[in-house]
Amino acid sequence: MEKIAIIGAGLIGCAWSTVFARAGYPVALYDIDSNALASAPEAINATLKSLFAAGLIEEDPAIVLQRVTFVADLGQALQGASLVQENVRETVDAKKEIFTKLDALAPGDAILASSTSGIPASSFTESLEGRARCLVGHPINPPSLVPLVELIPAPWTDAAVMARARTIYEGAGQVPIMVKREIQGFIVNRLQGALLAEAFRLVEDGYVDSIDCDKAVKDGLGLRWAFMGPFETIDLNAPGGIRDYCQRYGPLYLDIAKQAQPREWQAPLLDQLEQERLQSLGNTDRPARQRWRDGRLMQLVAHKRQQALKE
Ligand SMILES: NC(=O)c1ccc[n+]([C@@H]2O[C@H](COP(=O)([O-])OP(=O)(O)OC[C@H]3O[C@@H](n4cnc5c(N)ncnc54)[C@H](O)[C@@H]3O)[C@@H](O)[C@H]2O)c1
Repeated sequence: MEKIAIIGAGLIGCAWSTVFARAGYPVALYDIDSNALASAPEAINATLKSLFAAGLIEEDPAIVLQRVTFVADLGQALQGASLVQENVRETVDAKKEIFTKLDALAPGDAILASSTSGIPASSFTESLEGRARCLVGHPINPPSLVPLVELIPAPWTDAAVMARARTIYEGAGQVPIMVKREIQGFIVNRLQGALLAEAFRLVEDGYVDSIDCDKAVKDGLGLRWAFMGPFETIDLNAPGGIRDYCQRYGPLYLDIAKQAQPREWQAPLLDQLEQERLQSLGNTDRPARQRWRDGRLMQLVAHKRQQALKE
């Protein structure tokens, strides 16, 4: 199996290490901070154990963990790597600095991918000799549970590099989507942003409270979204398919879109939202609720896998 180098052993770097190691890839994990590197084995082990307990991996977590080496030297981590997945701080300067090093030290044919949540690759790779091998591979947290990865090229990224990256992520069990050119927020955060903007407007203008707005998604739209996207949804919601749907409901959505003015999210709406969250929560212990969310997510992922086998 091709070697994967993971740069940065924080939340996302550890999760990527889990993804590639469980798929059988040898992984070298590097961090500039020795404390982060020292705590990474336990973080990865804990994730592997919970995946094992949920039936999402069959191999003994200890064996999977053995595929990850924890390396304090960047050159050594990069040696022989086919894909380098960068996960350092989210600033342009930090990305520029690390990509300059990666381009100098990684094997000439290694792909250099950044996990950046929103910085286009063109803003930190332009001056690099190997800029054609650089792209954004944006995961959704945590990639060990959520398989989507958005692949976004810079204007100078080689199409063959994009195709090879896609093959590697698919080989690791992820679901890559190919973004055709750079755009702020990429695809996932733009979709999420559109929904959040409308949700904030509806609550701020007093049409609904945040608790019921959440229900509209978790007990309504979101049920379908766990297994189909917006286009597939509307294709099935009119007798004649997607064109029929657009003819029937297009004018309604156009009117709604014309009403949507951008707004800043600020007090007193934020005070109201915080208050409503507090009132609705039986349990205000956020780490406990994050564990609850991850447990539910694991059950959903297991269910989707079983369904995919049947289909
Ligand atoms: N947290 C999320 O939900 C999420 C989701 C998708 C993408 N991302 C992106 O992933 C990247 C990492 O985010 P995170 O949440 O894991 O951050 P984090 O703060 O948990 O981890 C960052 C790690 O990078 C290390 N680091 C900093 N400079 C370094 C260098 N020069 N060389 C090696 N290691 C270095 C730090 O020591 C730290 O361990 C960011 O670009 C972020 O935008 C985060």
